[in-house]
Amino acid sequence: MPIFEPRLDEVVAESKKRGRLSFGSTEQAIARGRAIFICVGTPPLGNGDADLSALEGAARTIAKRATGYRLIVEKSTVPVQTGAQLRKHLCVHSTGRLDYDVASNPEFLREGSSVEDFLHPDRIVIGVETQRAADFLREIYQPIIDQKFPCPLHAECPNRNPPRFLVTDTNSAELIKHASNSFLAMKISYINMVADLCEAAGADINQVAQGIGLDPRIGSSFLRPGIGFGGFCFPKDVQAFVRIADKFGCNFSLLREVERINQARIDRFVEKIRAELWVLRGKRICVWGLAFKPNTDDVRFAPALAIIRTLLAEGAVVQAYDPQAMEKAKAEIPEVNYCQDLYQAAAEAEAVLVLTEWEEFRHVDWSRLATLVERPLIVDGRNALSPETVANHGFQYLGIGGVSATAKVSSTPGAVALESATEPN
Ligand code: UGA
Repeated sequence: MPIFEPRLDEVVAESKKRGRLSFGSTEQAIARGRAIFICVGTPPLGNGDADLSALEGAARTIAKRATGYRLIVEKSTVPVQTGAQLRKHLCVHSTGRLDYDVASNPEFLREGSSVEDFLHPDRIVIGVETQRAADFLREIYQPIIDQKFPCPLHAECPNRNPPRFLVTDTNSAELIKHASNSFLAMKISYINMVADLCEAAGADINQVAQGIGLDPRIGSSFLRPGIGFGGFCFPKDVQAFVRIADKFGCNFSLLREVERINQARIDRFVEKIRAELWVLRGKRICVWGLAFKPNTDDVRFAPALAIIRTLLAEGAVVQAYDPQAMEKAKAEIPEVNYCQDLYQAAAEAEAVLVLTEWEEFRHVDWSRLATLVERPLIVDGRNALSPETVANHGFQYLGIGGVSATAKVSSTPGAVALESATEPN
């Protein structure tokens, strides 16, 4: 697997075994498939635009090789009007023996749970220009629309509403993708600003987020504050959406601010550490979590890596552990001391930073950890841990947005000193 996701390897292996999935050349795929989903990468160019060269290459090969009818579906995240360009391109390059429709079918899968999201989606959006394309896509998705298929994930699938099958024009489907991701990113930057305000005004962001999210018009998801959004989707999609809007004469300054707030999370978090440790040079700092989110080994645009780079630049010694992402992080930042487990990473550390909310970090043997660290301080960049549990084991806990707890039990001499130093908070 080029990317880790729990059980993805099993699903792929099983599908291959049953002859339902095979890998081959582009030409072989074109020869066999009546429907061709183009899923190539559209990475950001230096100016924030999406690089569509892989998409163009795939379309050219289809135009030259395919004969008869083909439904060509753009799955990759692309700017609005790409479908129209594709149609033009296919028309110019095809030999005349190809009859085709072009459709947009944006994906809303999250890394780490993409199989689950694919099989049990909230919505399936297709952008089409012909009834033939709409009918074909409905036929393809019918088992998922009806939720009737042998599910590789669950013995009994969760009881959910069946997905909505939304048919739009191609331009609208393309816009839905960028607008969805940008809206979710906006929600995260919004809650992060509220978190800063909570911190300054003496409120608790966890309580505030709960209170906001109970309004069904707002919803409780994507209101988790922290060190900001990362990964290969939100940062690049927000940027690309701003560029797309610019090209059409719309100034999407709102999203520029979303991006700026997100970038500022890194410095703000490092400032929190600096405020505690005073001088960072020569200090041993433990990092738990490198991936941009749990259940993946993806470190692209991971906030954890940006924080580590800042700490290293200030002369700190970083010892890190992640259940899945260490190989990929090592390729990016070899200077870090990568450790076998979360305890080894914490050895003689002056602070333990939680930068990805892996489940494993919620089941720590805190008493054991207390004997290993130089100073019992947890700085939780994801508000992932229970402040009470951590404090009950003699650790000072600093979360995001006014969530903190003072060490309750003096498990180490350091903890005693700390307790009195931080009273009466
Ligand atoms: C995102 C979207 O959620 C998917 O719907 C979309 O299909 C995908 O991008 C894509 O365009 O391919 P993904 O990047 O896998 O999925 O991850 P998310 O779960 O959305 O998280 C993105 C980032 O936001 C992570 O760094 C996560 O830690 C952060 N986040 C998320 C928060 O900081 N707070 C939250 O409340 C939620």
